[in-house]
Amino acid sequence: MSRLDVAVVGGCGHVGLPLGLAFASRGLRTVAYDINRAAVEKVSLGVMPFDEPGASQVLREVLDRGAFQASSDPELLSEADAVVVVIGTPIDKHLNPEAMEVPGEIAKLSRYFVDGQLLVLRSTLYPGVTAMVEQQLAAGPCKIDVAFCPERIAQGKAMEELFSLPQLVSGRTGEVRSRAASLFRHLTDEIVELMPEEAELAKLFTNTWRYIKFAAANQLFMIANDFGLDYSKIRDALTQEYPRAQDLPSAGLAAGPCLLKDTMQLAAFNNNQFTLGNAAMLINEGLPLYTVARLESRFNLSELTVGILGMAFKAESDDIRSSLSYRLRRILAFKAKRVLCTDPYVTIDPNLVPLDQVLRESDLLVIGAAHDAYREIQTNLPVVDLTNLRGKGSLV
Ligand SMILES: NC(=O)c1ccc[n+]([C@@H]2O[C@H](COP(=O)([O-])OP(=O)(O)OC[C@H]3O[C@@H](n4cnc5c(N)ncnc54)[C@H](O)[C@@H]3O)[C@@H](O)[C@H]2O)c1
Repeated sequence: MSRLDVAVVGGCGHVGLPLGLAFASRGLRTVAYDINRAAVEKVSLGVMPFDEPGASQVLREVLDRGAFQASSDPELLSEADAVVVVIGTPIDKHLNPEAMEVPGEIAKLSRYFVDGQLLVLRSTLYPGVTAMVEQQLAAGPCKIDVAFCPERIAQGKAMEELFSLPQLVSGRTGEVRSRAASLFRHLTDEIVELMPEEAELAKLFTNTWRYIKFAAANQLFMIANDFGLDYSKIRDALTQEYPRAQDLPSAGLAAGPCLLKDTMQLAAFNNNQFTLGNAAMLINEGLPLYTVARLESRFNLSELTVGILGMAFKAESDDIRSSLSYRLRRILAFKAKRVLCTDPYVTIDPNLVPLDQVLRESDLLVIGAAHDAYREIQTNLPVVDLTNLRGKGSLV
């Protein structure tokens, strides 16, 4: 019998850590393997390296029970029945997918794999990467079953959604799918089986669909706004007890580590022929510039200090990866007299200042991340509020 049930590679990351905790909470002996030694140290001490509601308590419980450990020792991978890989899959500086990243890392780790293991790929993959890993491992000395089971949680809801979302499970054979399904049945009863290429596209379609919906909302916002009308008021009216429009999002900065990147991956996969996806990228990524341009038409920005409230990529999160509040800051740094930024959750940016300083020293406020804390702030300053957090129109 193996000493461990699951090893999660990338186990101290935003996806890997909640997943490892979820497995451990269901009684599986789990190791979170990660090359980030600082994160491993924190996790070993029972401290989450980032905010994830509900995770701290589970971390302390599973550490106390001895069901979970974090480590930077790759030898531990040999001791697990299943190895789950959930390292980042970024795009490069030319905005191309780094498709070889996962196969490259697996080639390095494969010396620790042992005969009969199940390898679950869980990073969001460029289509065809699962097949590439299958071929790579088939040429090696061990028989390893390769499955691709994409993660679909939203950050901030991981500890709930890992147990409530249906799990997409894919593998080349029924036997592989059934092995992977047995692993994920520890978390959920709802398993949906696909072939690997179908699952790779299913994951990219999931994020792209969401990204396009945000772009549609942002474009409608710009149309209403340019016409001098309040998008939020129109949206509230048209969605009221009208079931077919309930999924129309509010406007806002649509960013983060996944949605844009995965839309780009799909565009690249389709030989850059993804008109709708490309348009969505232009709209969402262009919203900060649009906002500043509209402000310029109303204010003499060069004489004003602008305060940005919320630097995380979304509400109630400390994650600033690919946050458009930072693009907003860059544009305003060029146009305004001064820019002050604040966020109650973000602790890793030394340039942020306390909220009361922003309120005291700014002439104009822009809400970047719609943290609940900004809903009730008392201020007489003009506030640009794209998401209509404060229910007073957007003022752009
Ligand atoms: N963040 C999300 O909400 C989310 C949701 C669904 C899917 N995904 C996908 O999950 C994957 C991981 O995303 P993330 O947000 O967790 O990234 P992350 O950067 O937070 O975590 C990745 C972790 O992998 C570690 N790592 C990198 N290379 C390693 C290696 N060779 N060995 C061991 N550890 C290694 C890093 O140190 C880091 O801790 C990506 O493919 C992403 O697209 C993310």
